[in-house]
Amino acid sequence: METIQFSQLSAAFEGCFGAPPRLFRSPGRINLIGEHTDYNEGYVLPAAIGRYVYVAMAPRDDGLIRLRSMDFPEAYEGHVDNLAVCDISWANYVLGILHGMQARGLSCRGFDAFFAADLPVGAGLSSSAALCCAAAFGLNALFDWPLHRLEMAELAQGAEHRYAGVLCGIMDPFASLFGREGHFIRLDCRSRAHTYIPFLTEHYQLTLLNTNVKHHLASSAYNQRRQECAQGLAWIQAHMPAASSLREVTMEMIDRYVAVRDETTARRCRYVVAENQRLLQLCEDLQRGDLAAAGAKMYETHAGLSQQYEVSCPEADFLVSHAQTAPAVLGARMMGGGFGGCILALVAREKAAAWEQDLGNRYEDAFGKTLSTLSVHPADGTSEMLI
Ligand code: GLA
Repeated sequence: METIQFSQLSAAFEGCFGAPPRLFRSPGRINLIGEHTDYNEGYVLPAAIGRYVYVAMAPRDDGLIRLRSMDFPEAYEGHVDNLAVCDISWANYVLGILHGMQARGLSCRGFDAFFAADLPVGAGLSSSAALCCAAAFGLNALFDWPLHRLEMAELAQGAEHRYAGVLCGIMDPFASLFGREGHFIRLDCRSRAHTYIPFLTEHYQLTLLNTNVKHHLASSAYNQRRQECAQGLAWIQAHMPAASSLREVTMEMIDRYVAVRDETTARRCRYVVAENQRLLQLCEDLQRGDLAAAGAKMYETHAGLSQQYEVSCPEADFLVSHAQTAPAVLGARMMGGGFGGCILALVAREKAAAWEQDLGNRYEDAFGKTLSTLSVHPADGTSEMLI
């Protein structure tokens, strides 16, 4: 996928709206491990990547909102006084951001906006969060509002909840807004405290393997998993009222209060508890520079997501099990909400190209689908592009 030229986006904006815009961009994200832990008040370990949603924007004197995208044919036209959900899904995220801003007492005039992206959509790289964050950051700058990045992340999360019906956690917009070049972000999703962990990899690289399976099931199954975790917690709380989230829960509590009622719910909870512990240990691996130990935990996470949380798919399982037999690969796992999207792999730099080629051939033979690959590196978060 081509990276976007700012001059191209700026020219498209001017051609369409007849005024010079300001340009903003917000990145997609990867997550080393810590999957489905954010909405359980646990830990996550994401990083922004150098693939973005871009937006060119300019304010208007009236209340009109006009939205266009280089990637979708539909155009949106509306008014700041009517932010009802519309039938253009990408435009809904922008309306959701505006709704959240108005709910915080920030009123705005109209504006024109033109979006573009070099981030694959529906691949588990958080293109929707990147779009929300680009819009929130741009509007905040355009109207000189005082929002800081955490508030923007919360607005983005709220937009996904209200305007897309996905009850996601805070990880994706947080990573997009708070990314730092060369670092993973260890985020405590309860306190929102975060630390940056350097990712030093002279000999290894992070590779994304896109299954090119679109996660259709994702939003309904995602909300269902969230509900299962809430149910498991509620059964525990009936006996241990002090447990305010799965983060305080032990395997013993799950066996005692959840497994006796429903084994599937118990499996979901066990996965979450183990994943939080694994993440904290992996952070220590990274501090010690022990990438082999970190990679082994990526495989453990994948096994948990596939067998206990049941959000993987045959294509993802195929890729991870092949990675496990390749000496060049230290770790691999499916990433994001699940049911498709990307695998993240930690691969020896010198051997990566040959391995990807071989795996791509096997994947095509097995599924008749193309495997797209992309090498990624932790990048800085949302910013204004000065041209
Ligand atoms: C999606 C959600 C995130 C997170 C992940 C799973 O990307 O948007 O909040 O829950 O799934 O870890």
